[in-house]
Order: sequence, then structure tokens, then C-alpha cells
Amino acid sequence: MEAEAAHAPDDCLLEARHISKRFPGVTALDDVSLRVSRGTVHALVGENGAGKSTLMKIIAGIVTADAGELRLNGRTLQLDSPRAALASGIAMIHQELNLLPSMSVAENIWIGREPVNAFQMIRHRELHRRTTALLARLHIDLDPGAQVGSLPVASRQMVEIARALSHESRLLIMDEPTSALGEHDAAHLFAIIRELKAQGKAVLYITHRMDELWAIADEVTVLRDGRCIGTDRPGNLTREQIIRMMVGRELARAHPYERSAPGRVLLAAEALALPPHFHDVSFELRAGEILGIAGLIGAGRSKLAEALFGVTPATSGHILIDGRRIEVDSPGTALARGLAFLTEDRKETGCFLTLDVLDNLEMAVLTRDFVRFGFVRGGAVSGACADISERLRVKTRGLREPIAHLSGGNQQKVLLGRWLLTGPRVLILDEPTRGIDVAAKAEIHNLIGQLAAQGAAVLMISSELPEILGMSHRIMVMRDGRVTGMLERTEADPERVMTLAAG
Ligand SMILES: Nc1ncnc2c1ncn2[C@@H]1O[C@H](COP(=O)(O)OP(=O)(O)OP(=O)(O)O)[C@@H](O)[C@H]1O
Ligand SMILES: [Mg+2]
Repeated sequence: MEAEAAHAPDDCLLEARHISKRFPGVTALDDVSLRVSRGTVHALVGENGAGKSTLMKIIAGIVTADAGELRLNGRTLQLDSPRAALASGIAMIHQELNLLPSMSVAENIWIGREPVNAFQMIRHRELHRRTTALLARLHIDLDPGAQVGSLPVASRQMVEIARALSHESRLLIMDEPTSALGEHDAAHLFAIIRELKAQGKAVLYITHRMDELWAIADEVTVLRDGRCIGTDRPGNLTREQIIRMMVGRELARAHPYERSAPGRVLLAAEALALPPHFHDVSFELRAGEILGIAGLIGAGRSKLAEALFGVTPATSGHILIDGRRIEVDSPGTALARGLAFLTEDRKETGCFLTLDVLDNLEMAVLTRDFVRFGFVRGGAVSGACADISERLRVKTRGLREPIAHLSGGNQQKVLLGRWLLTGPRVLILDEPTRGIDVAAKAEIHNLIGQLAAQGAAVLMISSELPEILGMSHRIMVMRDGRVTGMLERTEADPERVMTLAAG
């Protein structure tokens, strides 16, 4: 099917040969070779920290390899900057979004390439026209004038995609482009990718979503600990085989599920509203319960979570904690009441990139009443941090390593660990396993399940249906800011959830 591309497999566009790269104390890439053919999608998979992003950054001219060579169309390629890569027809969509929040969609896409008049002034109408044309061609429904900072993460991802495509490149590198997208937007991206293939372009595609390999990739290369384990057509491999290549061992069942008897109501919402984001949201969340929130991007789920935690308070309705109406007007109030919140966008609201792993882990614990959780000595804190970082398999040279040096998925694990350390009574999770590899995902699902079994109440937003269906005791579905259904675990299946989510 997909694998039968119009181009022969030896129609090689880019070749990476014997690439090696060391950072102080770690070998990120060790003698990795890779060939990408025109008109094909070449997927790259591997555990968090396997070296995927590093390899892509080398091909995009952002990082320089210690050894090895790149060849484009059979000729050696010397890249000393992203600009040089772009000039050679190589564009990259980054794992961490690289947009300027205060600028518009149009400005972000054409930054540095704006149409100017004779006086070097930006021709705004032309900028707008170009953007409209580009977005229309890609069937992306966004206002060119919208400020990027006001857009949900999925829309920002679409802006990144549009920007990379605006360069008319021959090779597009996509680093986990769907990690912030729901099924609907992911399908849209796949349609764009198929069109690129038909035009003879090549795509290098990183993902942690295994199903995507068979949906979109012609070839897949597996990296483990910076080494290339193998390359093949997805059709020749099973999911289990690929995972074994990635992790080098068998994995336990992905979604552990233990039903503990739900306790008393810890968190409730009564007709909560924050127009235009969400309206009339009511629910009860009990101790020991995992309530999943499903919905398409823009359904208002993240805004609801932010309101519950006091980031952007609701404008009407009530929040009840332990049965009492509480005005949650700031995250401080929420934190003091035992709530914890893992946000969707780790770069903007989660990570303190200038600090090290330990500081990032400790942060939330230290701002709370410490003794309550049985920690009395400072040493105990770092002990607990070391413990959680080991359980989550955070790949780091030590707790004193700057978090900016960790791979994307490992940063996410640290953020989750931070909240787990506070021993929250109510844990609000927005896309908790975004960018997390399959092995670590199972571990995180385990931890969330354990936390619930110990009496915590968990509210989990996820765009991955298997995660929602596998983990939740009940599922609340939202559409256009309203609750369209509340399903018991036993009555939930993908079709029902999607019908309620999409209308
Ligand atoms: N600037 C840096 N300084 C030090 N170490 C780094 C730097 N960038 C990456 N590393 C290390 O190199 C290794 C590979 O990281 P990389 O980001 O390529 O992983 P990845 O496969 O993309 O993982 P993920 O799935 O989590 O995104 C990791 O051990 C990481 O900590
Ligand atoms: Mg990465």
C-alpha cells in the first residue's frame, strides 16, 4: 500500500554516514548511518534519549557531528547553520515549539523573509496574502493575524508545520509532530505528508506513536542508546518486534488497571464556566478515581484544567474541594489545598530550563508544607528525588545535570516526577505522556494507577484514545466547551467517545 511509493527505494536523496556525536559524559550517537529516498517517509523511533533529535539536528545544521558525513544527492554536504540547511532544501519542525508567542501567525511563518518595500518596510497586506494562500493550500484553518501565544498547542504545532513547508524544501524533518495533536489533526497532517510524497519530497519522521509507522512510514530505523539497531519496512515488522528493538527487552502490559472502591468526593465543579472556552461544566471526582477527559483540540479541556488549578480562574460557577466551595483564584490556593497540575506545554509553563534536574524536581515539594509528607531532613528530599527519577527511568548523568540537556521525553518525566513527589490528593494531568516512549509510558501509567489506588483523585486529559480508555474509571467527553457525555468504563469504546467528541 503506502510502501509502494512511486519512486524506487534506491532513489536516495539524503544519506547520513557513520555519524557520531558526544556530549560531555554521554555518547548521543555512535556510528549511525541512514538513507532517505525521494517520495518516501523514513521514520525514526527509539526510547527517550536514544539520540533521535540529535541526529535530526545534525541533518538540519543545528548541531555539528564529531564524525561522519552527510550526502545530499550524492554530494557531500557541509552544514554550519540551520540557514545553510534551509538553503540546501532541508527544513525541520522541532519537538519543542520554536515560535514567538507575541507575534502573529503570519509573522512567525515568514520571520526574516517578510516581503518589504523599497524602504525596507514590511508589506503587511502582502504578508497576509501569502499566509492566507499557504494556509489554504495546506487546508489549515487559522487566522494569519492571530497572536500565536493565544493559540492552543495543537494550532501552534500547525503553525510550525506551515512554516517548515513554506520553505518549499526537498527534505522535511518532523520531530514528534503529532505529540500535541489529536487524532483529527494527526489525520490532517498525514494528508499533507502524502501530498508531499506525491511531489517527490522526502520526510524524516520521529514518533513515539507506534501505530503511525504502519499508517505513514515507508521505512523505519530504530535507535537504541545512540546506535542504529536496524532499518526495515514497517510491513516486515510487528509492533512487538519494533518495541523489542527499541528497548532490548520485553515489556509488561501497557495499561494496568485496578479498580479501587472510589472514596468521597475530593473535587467537584458546579456549572463552571469561562466563556468562550467552556460553559456549564459539572462533575464530581472521587478519591481513588481516574476521570479521563476526552475531546478534540479546542474542546476546552486545557482551559478547564487551568481554571481548576487557578491559572485562569473561571468567571462563573463553583469549585468544591472536600465538599467546600473554594475560590481557586491562583495556583497557590490550589497547591495549598493539595492539588497538583502537570501542564500541557512543558517549555512555557513547566520546565525551568536554566536549573538542574534536582531543582526542577524539588521545586513543588519545597513550596509546600514539607513535614506533612514525612520528609524532615533535606537529605530525604534529594533521596526521594533520586528515587522517583530512577522509577521513571529518567536518562541523565546525575541530578545536578541542567534539565536543558535532557531529551524532550526525559524533561517530561522530571515534570511528572515533581508533582508525584508532592503526594497530591488531586492530580490534574494534561497530556501526561506526551513525548514519552512506550516503555516509560507503561511505567508512568503504573505510577498514576498506584497513586489512585492509594486514594488520590486523578483528572487526566489525553488525546490518545487508548490511554483514555485504558486508564480511566469514567470518561468525560467535551465538545466546543461543553460536556457532551459522561461514560462509565464499561460503556466506553472508541466509537462512542469519538461520536461524542466530534458530534
Ligand atoms: N545539548 C546537550 N548537552 C548535553 N547532552 C545532550 C544535549 N542534547 C542532547 N543530549 C543528550 O544526548 C542524548 C540523546 O538526546 P536526544 O535529544 O537526541 O534524544 P531523543 O531520542 O530525541 O529523545 P526523546 O524521545 O526524549 O525526544 C541524551 O542522553 C541527552 O541527554
Ligand atoms: Mg527528541
